[in-house]
Amino acid sequence: MSLDAAMAQSVNANVVVVGCGISGVAAAHRLVKAGFNNVRILEATSRSGGRIKTGKLGNIITEIGATYLHGPSEKNPVFCLARDYGLLGPEALTPENQAIDVDEYPPWVPNWFSSSGQRLSAESMSPALELFHEVLDNTWQFRKQKERSGASVGHYIRSKAPKRALKKWKDKDEPTKKLLLSGISTMLKVECCASATHTMDDIDLVGYSMYKSIKGVDCTFPSGYDGLISHLMSELPPDLVTYNRPVRCVHWNGTEGGVNPVTVECDDGERIAADHVILTVPLGYLKKHHSTLFSPPLPTHKLDSIHQLGFGTCDKIYVEFESPWWDADCEVIYLVWKDEENISDQVSDKIQSWTRKIPAFTVIKPSEKGSHVLCGWIAGLEAEYMETLPEEEIRRSITELIHTFTGDRTITPKRILCTRWFNDPWTCGSYCHPALRCSAKDLQNMKEPLPVKGKSSQPLQVLFAGEATHPCYYSTVHGALQTGWREADRLISHHSSGSLLNQSGQKVKV
Ligand SMILES: Cc1cc2nc3c(=O)[nH]c(=O)nc-3n(C[C@H](O)[C@H](O)[C@H](O)COP(=O)(O)OP(=O)(O)OC[C@H]3O[C@@H](n4cnc5c(N)ncnc54)[C@H](O)[C@@H]3O)c2cc1C
Ligand SMILES: *[C@@H]1O[C@H](CO)[C@@H](O)[C@H](O)[C@H]1NC(C)=O
Ligand SMILES: *[C@@H]1O[C@H](CO)[C@@H](O)[C@H](O)[C@H]1NC(C)=O
Ligand SMILES: *[C@@H]1O[C@H](CO)[C@@H](O)[C@H](O)[C@H]1NC(C)=O
Repeated sequence: MSLDAAMAQSVNANVVVVGCGISGVAAAHRLVKAGFNNVRILEATSRSGGRIKTGKLGNIITEIGATYLHGPSEKNPVFCLARDYGLLGPEALTPENQAIDVDEYPPWVPNWFSSSGQRLSAESMSPALELFHEVLDNTWQFRKQKERSGASVGHYIRSKAPKRALKKWKDKDEPTKKLLLSGISTMLKVECCASATHTMDDIDLVGYSMYKSIKGVDCTFPSGYDGLISHLMSELPPDLVTYNRPVRCVHWNGTEGGVNPVTVECDDGERIAADHVILTVPLGYLKKHHSTLFSPPLPTHKLDSIHQLGFGTCDKIYVEFESPWWDADCEVIYLVWKDEENISDQVSDKIQSWTRKIPAFTVIKPSEKGSHVLCGWIAGLEAEYMETLPEEEIRRSITELIHTFTGDRTITPKRILCTRWFNDPWTCGSYCHPALRCSAKDLQNMKEPLPVKGKSSQPLQVLFAGEATHPCYYSTVHGALQTGWREADRLISHHSSGSLLNQSGQKVKV
């Protein structure tokens, strides 16, 4: 970062970055700082940030895309940038906050409600939370397992939790046990949102433990996640990005002739010659368009991994109320359907009961007095169905849901705002997950540049960055950021004779 462009040798190699999300911005930023003077970004939409997208509901900041800085501590480059740019609140900056190892479960103050319209005490429901996390933590033991077993996280939880419950909850009566097991179904649906999957039955038991968490209690950006993007962008030449410029096809392997090995063909017909292309389009987009996006087509092992890795939908529904119906210190509201003791994250009737897939609302810290906003979470096919509905119908269904759980029919949402990531043509979903039979090799294949090593005299024609190319921080902003830096470093090292820039932008011998 600190390396002055003037100090570095200038490099004339022609680099085109496709996509202006965090990974594309990070790649371009590092290349420019290292003296590459022929870099441009082509972005399909009219804005930068991609899946970092801050919006507003009235005067309240809402995150349409990424919400949390997962693991805000020194090891997280997003934390370091956000801290240096002054984007974090005082709590996130405390050493205490950075030191807490939460392993993905923020220690939030919950309020629980049941489908018979009753408030449940946090103490009475805590055994459900404990048991769920205990069993989920046990999946960690499979991380060393080499073979693709095809077993799922959902199946594992369904097979272990009831047995353990029988032992641990011996002294509880039947209705209590049933309610606690239903609470585990709620948590399973929460996990679907975290993994952007329709069901945890689709998440590979071994693959699940590829994900690594970083120390620190998750925090948000008080003035919006997109501050990260605008600060990085302000350090780049203003004309670096061409907006509204979707790329239709990347012609590589010299198929177009000319001196440059790659030609980037845009939707408007423009053809741009390049020595290197860093492709950062989302995995969802790749799944849908790979057959037309590359000429010649991708090698089979890369295609297999694109199919193998999962990419699903997680949406949010922001709901604003006149006054709060939750406790002043409440951070998350969990909804328990009393008939879900079978430990399931699936809903029988998607059209009639899609709101059953909403397990929780998080409470948005009021940025101004008198604002009372919740954020509902929904994943999978029900989220994709919700996206097809008009906002007014969504509002009606959410109102009905809240009436059912509070028993109070006077509560009416004022305004709502929902995300529609599945129908975003440039994303086609939310983020990636380890689908059944997927392994570390797939993420490895995702990031491998083209042409395959030793197959051409012109290496590094197409490089791959983006969230779904990170071996352990996939599905996150910090993962995406690091993949951008990684691919920039690959080019920097290729063009510098025997020296490479490390993460702090200092030259190191290789
Ligand atoms: C609802 C939701 C919640 C999330 N919550 C969190 C969270 O709390 N914490 C966290 O760390 N992460 C979260 N994430 C994930 C995080 O947002 C992503 O991992 C990260 O932003 C991805 O960055 P990227 O650069 O890989 O991809 P993107 O940001 O998607 O950037 C890719 C860019 O490529 C462009 N593009 C696509 N096709 C073309 C084309 N043909 N030509 C030109 N341009 C094209 C797109 O328009 C886009 O701008 C969340 C994501 C979603 C959707
Ligand atoms: C790339 O070009 C070389 C030589 O022109 C050819 O042998 C090779 O098969 C091509 N590779 C692909 C993937 O098309
Ligand atoms: C559990 O119950 C729900 C709701 O009654 C039902 O839709 C689902 O199919 C059941 N799941 C399993 C695994 O039995
Ligand atoms: C980068 O290299 C410099 C000099 O070798 C070293 O002092 C520094 O700690 C390195 N930083 C990282 C993040 O590796």
